[in-house]
Amino acid sequence: MNLDLFAPSAERRDEPLCDGAVVLRGFALDDAAALLRAIDAIAAQAPFRHLVTPGGFRMSVGMTNAGPLGWVSDRRGYRYDPVDPESGRPWPALAPSFLHLAGAAAAQAGFDGFVPDACLVNRYVPGTRLSLHQDRDERDLGQPIVSVSLGLPATFLFGGMQRTDRQRRVPLAHGDVAVWGGPARLRFHGVLPLKPGHHPSLGECRINLTFRRAG
Ligand code: SIN
Ligand code: FE2
Repeated sequence: MNLDLFAPSAERRDEPLCDGAVVLRGFALDDAAALLRAIDAIAAQAPFRHLVTPGGFRMSVGMTNAGPLGWVSDRRGYRYDPVDPESGRPWPALAPSFLHLAGAAAAQAGFDGFVPDACLVNRYVPGTRLSLHQDRDERDLGQPIVSVSLGLPATFLFGGMQRTDRQRRVPLAHGDVAVWGGPARLRFHGVLPLKPGHHPSLGECRINLTFRRAG
């Protein structure tokens, strides 16, 4: 008997990480081209920049935002700001395709009614990493995080509630969506240094969109 007949396709399956966290393999594949066009439009209005941490370190990930609120960091701390500090203007709007994808992914992961008001756009080039952290600057921690991977593959580190807890190494590829919320909402996570490579639609680059309900 061929059990594969009854299994979901290899590209699109739900891979639970722990209670409250799942990787939806290939969930954003059909939307990827539209997302990349929208990201170009965002970056034209609010260019990628390297933020400085409160401790004075320049982050290697290039960042920008879309939506009513944008995540920023400087010597004063981390915060959500309705205005791009570089231009003094509001962040570019969240495209309907973004809102739809984020809501659908959250629902698929068991979090109904997710309406993000912030989308952090992270750009990685080979060598770029994101050190272990918690997403905890959002007002309502009852809302999940929806994280969309595009371009070059990366290794996502998914840890526990303590920084020192053992981390799982989760490969994330173009079109994968990771969602964490509920009991997993404050788990530490990060991204290992991006390996060199070439992606057909993004070249030597990975882009990650993280959708949050910040305000
Ligand atoms: C983040 O934690 O903000 C980004 C995670 C990722 O790039 O996959
Ligand atoms: Fe994060």
